[in-house]
Amino acid sequence: MLKGVILAGGLGTRLHPLTKITNKHLLPIYDKPMICYPIEALVNAGVKDVLLVTGGNSAGDFLRLLGHGRHLGLERLDYTYQEGEGGIADALALAKHHAEGKRLVVVLGDNILELSIKKSVENFRKQESGAKILVKEVHDPERFGVAEIQGDKVLSIEEKPTQPKSNYAVTGLYMYDSTVFDIIDGLSPSERGELEITDVNNHYINRGTMTWEKLDGWWTDAGTFDSLRRATNLVAEGGANLV
Ligand code: G1P
Repeated sequence: MLKGVILAGGLGTRLHPLTKITNKHLLPIYDKPMICYPIEALVNAGVKDVLLVTGGNSAGDFLRLLGHGRHLGLERLDYTYQEGEGGIADALALAKHHAEGKRLVVVLGDNILELSIKKSVENFRKQESGAKILVKEVHDPERFGVAEIQGDKVLSIEEKPTQPKSNYAVTGLYMYDSTVFDIIDGLSPSERGELEITDVNNHYINRGTMTWEKLDGWWTDAGTFDSLRRATNLVAEGGANLV
């Protein structure tokens, strides 16, 4: 069985002043708050036992919006709170108890995608151990973690490189075995003072247990004004065809 984790913390400073009064993941993307989209992606992939890690502003509003989550197709929805700005891997560390030794599908709460990830999740279920990332070709890779890929191998991932080695952005959809928590325990903060998810992924790459797949359909994050507008337009025009 796979468990789900949605990371929806942070202060969303790139979206000030919108995020001075609410949490980034509660902002609207067309006709729903942002957080509804990653939940739909997990439910659609058959991952229905989910932990939501939030933080920053308006954390209580998630409970008001999502409740026990059953009306959204979830079997169980748990909540926890990340203090401070420790980064994505720091937020993921809070999921250790939720994971109970099982494998995880992790989604960043501001990632919106058009099509199902069910097939990739099924493939990860069959993978003996390790991790899987989903990548997408983009025209602005310097905004993301960038994967250097050779055949079926990921050689390395660089976080927001000034000279990207490819156009493959590492999307905010990650699959991990339970060793992820030991990896996070051993991490040191990056220059921006955060525990980086890219460092976690590079650990799996160095062990030779990282697999990758291309994400089908459109994909966007929504953490800047441009990407927020792009997400809204994509959903309004094409829909997120998950339900
Ligand atoms: C984060 C990750 C980055 C990834 C991106 C996907 O960046 O650090 O590797 O490509 O999410 O949305 P952030 O949006 O926190 O800058």
